[in-house]
Amino acid sequence: MSKQQFDREAILNLSRSMAKGAPTKPAAHRGTHHAKIDRSKTDFATMDLYQQITIQRQMAEKLQTRDPYFVLHESRAGATTIVDGKELINFASYDYLGLNGLDEVHQAAKDAIDQFGTSVSGSRPTSGERPFHRTLEQQLADLYQSEAALIFVSGHATNVSTIGELLGPTDLVLFDAYSHNSVTTGCKLSGATRRAFKHNDFDDLERILEETRNAHDRVMIVVEGLYSMDGDMPDLARLVELKDRFGAWLMVDEAHSLGVLGATGKGLFEQQGVDPKKIDIWMGTMSKTMSGCGGYICGNQPLIDILKFFASGFMYSVGLSAPLSVAGSKALEIMQHEPWRVEKLQSNGRYFLKAAQAAGLDTGLSAGFCVVPVIVGDSLRAVKLSNNLMDRGIYAFPITYPAVPMNSARLRFFISATHSEEQLQQAVDITAEELRKLEDANFSIASALSNLNAD
Ligand SMILES: Cc1ncc(COP(=O)(O)O)c(C=O)c1O
Repeated sequence: MSKQQFDREAILNLSRSMAKGAPTKPAAHRGTHHAKIDRSKTDFATMDLYQQITIQRQMAEKLQTRDPYFVLHESRAGATTIVDGKELINFASYDYLGLNGLDEVHQAAKDAIDQFGTSVSGSRPTSGERPFHRTLEQQLADLYQSEAALIFVSGHATNVSTIGELLGPTDLVLFDAYSHNSVTTGCKLSGATRRAFKHNDFDDLERILEETRNAHDRVMIVVEGLYSMDGDMPDLARLVELKDRFGAWLMVDEAHSLGVLGATGKGLFEQQGVDPKKIDIWMGTMSKTMSGCGGYICGNQPLIDILKFFASGFMYSVGLSAPLSVAGSKALEIMQHEPWRVEKLQSNGRYFLKAAQAAGLDTGLSAGFCVVPVIVGDSLRAVKLSNNLMDRGIYAFPITYPAVPMNSARLRFFISATHSEEQLQQAVDITAEELRKLEDANFSIASALSNLNAD
């Protein structure tokens, strides 16, 4: 049995052994007219999805680990955070340039509320738009040297609506195997033929294009500027060459690369010296570097016009609110006027990566910018490590299957320009120490399972 199969089987066994305390299914109602309807199916508590959550909670309780989800924080997301009155060094938030805590950004958002209120109270096509929408879209279009831009109220909805609307059943969408859920959900919604290519493997992409391109009308290739779980980047020039040769669109999701890559934070194209006009669809989110929330698409005018009228997540959704739009605008201005923030983030990323590698931690593919994983393999070990770090003043979230492949569970460290080198070093030292303890104790799903069975 492969290690992967073993882990999967072990989780299932553990779940079964713990399911004894799970809620039992209520007896099916036997109505005279609808005897065949199993009414227990409409009880949310009997759904497999709920059972999964229940089992996870029970496991956490039995193994005396804190449930890592929905931790209650008592302060804003910065380089530090407060949980249960205790200050922790925070590596679970993506305020990459430290703009979320800046007076200048706060003041701009407050002034915008005073003038325009907290909501625009309607969708832009029907209720109209306001100057701050156009200002932000112009700034984004300028950044990517594109003809136009469009802002959405959510980064996730931006990908879902854009991919979902542009492609149809006669088309093909090729996406990196490590793509974010918003990309894969958009691909499903589109009804196009979907193929994942191996992560950052453009020989694989080329092979699929050779085999399948001619059978489809339109083809879209989707990649990320910097991968959110692994912290590595694609080769943009190679992608441009492939998309030109095969007559495909190229869409790049810059969620984790805006403000992070390139000398002035403009992202992947600046980092790799590629003309941004060669990319058909630039996508990004405002929840990371731009210290707010929302998403954007930049490209040529026809693309933006199509999305304005047909992207359901834009057309049928409220416009971005004044404080969020203005916070985003201010963040872009500061990013461009204060390049030291980008430099500091990049030097912090390099520092953390080097220190982690020197401590013997497995940082996978990370290039050492804003995302550095510490891969521990076993899912339970990752959860336990995160717990133990929290007890020692470090907050880093565990990422487990299915968000990452089996046996590559990890703690993900988001690095910010506002972390100090002391904080980074402290996090590395404590992580290495706590991981060693778990390895020495052979703490894993398999050992937890045998301990539970022995109880
Ligand atoms: C690569 C990528 N794309 C899109 C999104 C969705 O963005 P948002 O969280 O701003 O909705 C995320 C979220 O983290 C992401 O990592």
